[in-house]
Amino acid sequence: MSSKDDVIAESLSLVAERAGDVTSVIYEKYFMRCPSAEEVMSHLDAQVLGKMMEEVYRLLMVNDYESENDYLNWEVSNHETAYNVEPHMYEGFFSAVIDSVREVMGSQWTPALERVWESKCEELRSEIARRFSVD
Ligand code: HEM
Repeated sequence: MSSKDDVIAESLSLVAERAGDVTSVIYEKYFMRCPSAEEVMSHLDAQVLGKMMEEVYRLLMVNDYESENDYLNWEVSNHETAYNVEPHMYEGFFSAVIDSVREVMGSQWTPALERVWESKCEELRSEIARRFSVD
């Protein structure tokens, strides 16, 4: 049986095969869900947005976040103090990622996949949330 991270990796490679780079689709859905994030990100070019998504995909395929402790501490601190990102902005972000993957996978999307995606995104979101200095 596949681990959670294998399932995520398989979905992402299927999405890439079918739809290519879905970065812009994800941000479009995200900004509809969370207009305040669009303001915070309005100055970013496609290259930075793409780099950010690469890191998000990488983290979604990590099995144990203990090994990412230093990176997560550093990245969350940057987002909070330098980029003015608020903890609630991560909720809509992960929902937009799941909505985009579900849309591309179409009939191959299953309730079991939904559960894996929801649980992995929640795991990463809570790793991020607990590193914010304020709630
Ligand atoms: C797992 C979640 C996230 C990860 C791993 C992540 C990672 C990154 C990375 C690696 C960059 C730097 C890109 C570069 O210049 O090389 C970046 C930039 C940025 N991220 Fe995120 N990000 C996440 C979620 C978010 C969310 C939810 C927001 C909400 C608004 C956000 C806002 C920004 C902004 C504003 C920048 C650009 C900062 C600047 O250069 O001015 N990020 N992110």
